[in-house]
This record gives sequence, C-alpha cells and structure tokens, in this order.
Amino acid sequence: MSTACCPGSFDPVTLGHLDIVSRAASLFDQVSVAVLVNESKRSLFGLEERLAMLREVTADLPNVTVDAFDGLLVDFCADRGIGAIVKGLRSGPDLDYEMPMARMNVGLRHVETVFVPTAAAWSHVSSSLVKEVASLGGDVSGMLPSPVHAALVQRLAERRSDT
Ligand code: PNS
Repeated sequence: MSTACCPGSFDPVTLGHLDIVSRAASLFDQVSVAVLVNESKRSLFGLEERLAMLREVTADLPNVTVDAFDGLLVDFCADRGIGAIVKGLRSGPDLDYEMPMARMNVGLRHVETVFVPTAAAWSHVSSSLVKEVASLGGDVSGMLPSPVHAALVQRLAERRSDT
C-alpha cells in the first residue's frame, strides 16, 4: 500500500491546501494530513480547531486521515511507515525553501518528498496572506472552504472585540 503525508500548520486550511491533499489522495492509497502542533508559533486557531476543520473539509476523501504531530516530520512518517511527503509548489521561492528540507528528510530517514505544482488558481494563496487580508477587511471567501471562512470571520471578530 502506498502511503503519504501532507504536512503543515494549516492555520487555517485553504483551498490551495485542500487541492494538494485531494490530488495526493488520488496518487496514494492512504494519505495522512499531518498538522504541526507548533507550540512556539502563535497560531490564530488552536490545534484542536485546526484538526476539526481539516476533518470536516476532507470528510469526502475516504483515504485521508488527519493527525497531529510534534517533533521531526520524518520521525512521524518513518514511525508510521509513511513513505512520502507531498508538498505543493506555488513558485520558484517555494522550491528554494523546500529543497533543503526534502534533502534533509531523505538523508535522515529515507523519506522522499513529492512536489505537486499548485493549481494556478491558488498560486497566490497562503494561510498567512489570507489572515492578513481578512483582518484588514478584504474578501477571502473564494480562497477558503466555506466553514473555514466562517470560522475565520468569527475568530477575527472575537479578536477585535477583545481589543
Ligand atoms: O504550513 P507550514 O508552516 O509551512 O509547514 C511547515 C512544516 C510543518 C511542513 C515544517 O515546518 C516541518 O516539517 N516541521 C516539522 C519539524 C521538522 O521536521 N523540521 C525539520 C525539517 S527538515
């Protein structure tokens, strides 16, 4: 059985992420969406919220599971017999950023990285840019699954009322 993981912070999951996950699910028998616990990084959504959103938006993909991981990604993969990491590439700088990690991961525990070109529709989309634009009043509804967009609007409103 071929297995892969799609790792990330997913704060929050975008339609770009979802496109890569669904394409990975058509390439591999089983795919684990691996969500970084990321204690040190300030995230807008907590781990349980990010896991729940991902489970909701991947519910129609029967060979996809959503799991949290901490520590080295290659340890998460190798300990579960996951043979490949799938990453989307939006542009050349993405490749420059990803290549050292891909080489490190194959060197550490023989886990290969498979790069999938991001669909043109999502090539400008990242979680951080979506959060920045939304927090300044821009419309990002076309870049997020609708329950995730609703959760983002609500969280930003909560943050505004806290300040
Ligand atoms: O969505 P992100 O934040 O760009 O995802 C980055 C992620 C989680 C894929 C990357 O930071 C990662 O693999 N972190 C786990 C720690 C690790 O294995 N570091 C060494 C990489 S060679």
